[in-house]
Amino acid sequence: MCGIVGYTGDKQAQPILFNCLKRLEYRGYDSCGVAVAVGGIELYKDAVRIEALAKASPKFKGTTGIGHTRWATHGAPSRDNAHPILDCTGKIAVVHNGVISNFQELRDQLTGEGHNFASETDTEVIPHLIEKYYDGSLEEAVTAALNDINGSYAIIVLAADKSELVVAKKDSPLIIGLGDRENYIASDVPAILDYTDRVIYLEDGDIGVVTKNDVKIRRDGKEIAREEHKVMWTVEEAQKAGYEHFFLKEIHEQPKVIRNTLGEFTRETEQAVDLVGIGGRGMESILMVACGTAYHAALTGKYIADELLRVPVRVEIASEFNYYSHTLARTVAIAVTQSGETADTLKAMRKLKEAGCRVVAITNVVGSTASRIADQTIYTRAGPEISVAASKTFIAQLMVLYWLIMSYSKADARRLANLLMELRQLPSKVQQILDNEAEIIEHARYLSKYENVFFIGRGINLPVAQEGALKLKELSYIHAEGYAAGETKHGPFALLGGNTPVIAIVAKDNTYDAMLTNIKEIKARGSPLIALAEEGNEAIEELADSVIAIPQVDAIFSPVVNTVALQLLAYYTAKERGCPIDFPRNLAKSVTVE
Ligand code: F6R
Repeated sequence: MCGIVGYTGDKQAQPILFNCLKRLEYRGYDSCGVAVAVGGIELYKDAVRIEALAKASPKFKGTTGIGHTRWATHGAPSRDNAHPILDCTGKIAVVHNGVISNFQELRDQLTGEGHNFASETDTEVIPHLIEKYYDGSLEEAVTAALNDINGSYAIIVLAADKSELVVAKKDSPLIIGLGDRENYIASDVPAILDYTDRVIYLEDGDIGVVTKNDVKIRRDGKEIAREEHKVMWTVEEAQKAGYEHFFLKEIHEQPKVIRNTLGEFTRETEQAVDLVGIGGRGMESILMVACGTAYHAALTGKYIADELLRVPVRVEIASEFNYYSHTLARTVAIAVTQSGETADTLKAMRKLKEAGCRVVAITNVVGSTASRIADQTIYTRAGPEISVAASKTFIAQLMVLYWLIMSYSKADARRLANLLMELRQLPSKVQQILDNEAEIIEHARYLSKYENVFFIGRGINLPVAQEGALKLKELSYIHAEGYAAGETKHGPFALLGGNTPVIAIVAKDNTYDAMLTNIKEIKARGSPLIALAEEGNEAIEELADSVIAIPQVDAIFSPVVNTVALQLLAYYTAKERGCPIDFPRNLAKSVTVE
């Protein structure tokens, strides 16, 4: 989604803005631009990558400026539609993340009042409204403009003759980075990590005026104080550290991520367990909401809970959940979201709160909107995830769910003690897969020739099949479907044959025999079959065309090791096909529009 940055201080703004925008590249974008106040406004923007923009742009001399990476919603990627967007006088520039829902009505009205529009964006109504209301105070003009606007926004407003930036936020993330005689603004923490680790998270409804020495935030006209936070992430964590891609680096970080996330729990266990309230306060069921990969983590959580908790658990895709009414009495709601900013998940959380549910967020981003909506937040300790495709945050989400569910489990004490022991061994099991990368590379070379692939799983490995397919399609652009193995004969069998490989995820649990039968049926129809199975499983070796060997774990933990192998498979397949792995086309890291 769009990324926004701003700088005001003693230094030249333009190089800083380009650097901050580079750090936001991971969010996904199709065009970008910067504007600097120099008495007038100097602006350069285009539908190109940031390096190209920085190279082509004239050098602007000014110490206050704004920048933007755009992910098109209203109007195609083009120079005109790129931000910053100017008013008619060229003296006010705006960068915006979000969607203005009444933009057409406002555009018609402003056009009638003599404003000329130069882009197809919804954003453009903002600078024109500010121009209309401007009477010397930029803050007052922005406040008046926002009163006319419906929708979501994080904006930074720059005026030609001012060394201040005016910011405002509603339903889109916005932070202020605090420096010494300089201040930064960004949609996301990694943008400013090179410069500061002190941040203020703005809340919905906040309007702020940022100068080099001061940050003033108002809400409903009254000045308020917002707490300063220290960011736990380091610049190094947000860099590639010698890996060719962030995605590969993040896969390799997973043993550490598992240790960190579990380590956190041992310190916080008692308090967190008490707060979540599953099984207490008359709570009778759990509802999880999430999107994409986080949804797959939640689905896996349902299987873990079915086995260990015996409390009814429902999992809903957040975007679907939002359109229907639900029976929510005595329900604990858990929202799973890496970024904590996914619009559909946030909307579901608000709906759940309105319905009186206790809402727990599992997120990776301290201070994210999800953490502010939730009654309680459990943080995954994955560090910044820069690759658009999620990897380590998925594994960290699973760790939180294992821990939470095991904390409440009334399962046999010996079984729980064994599981706890295995949980602690997971980092070394994952490391074994990483050490076995060469074998997976061979499989990836083979897979890269195909255009359609099925991933099949049963039980707790059905979400793993879905996640494996999602990773393959987003990274390598191969069409992939994750399917319940038993369902394949109810339609997908029509597609089987020599050109459609099937990847079967085999677990040594109560699904094992049925899975072997499925594999035989698929083989009989001529599809090449790759199995993911425990090392040393001779029966599978005989049946499948090839096997990716997975270290032995209790089947309940098989999603962890299987997913890591599938992440590597997707990565190397995409690499073989020459895909832009960290920034898949059309995708964005945090999806802040519905
Ligand atoms: C896929 C991926 C997405 C996200 C989804 C939800 O690799 O990353 O499917 O999982 O957009 O994002 P969060 O977890 O930030 O709510």
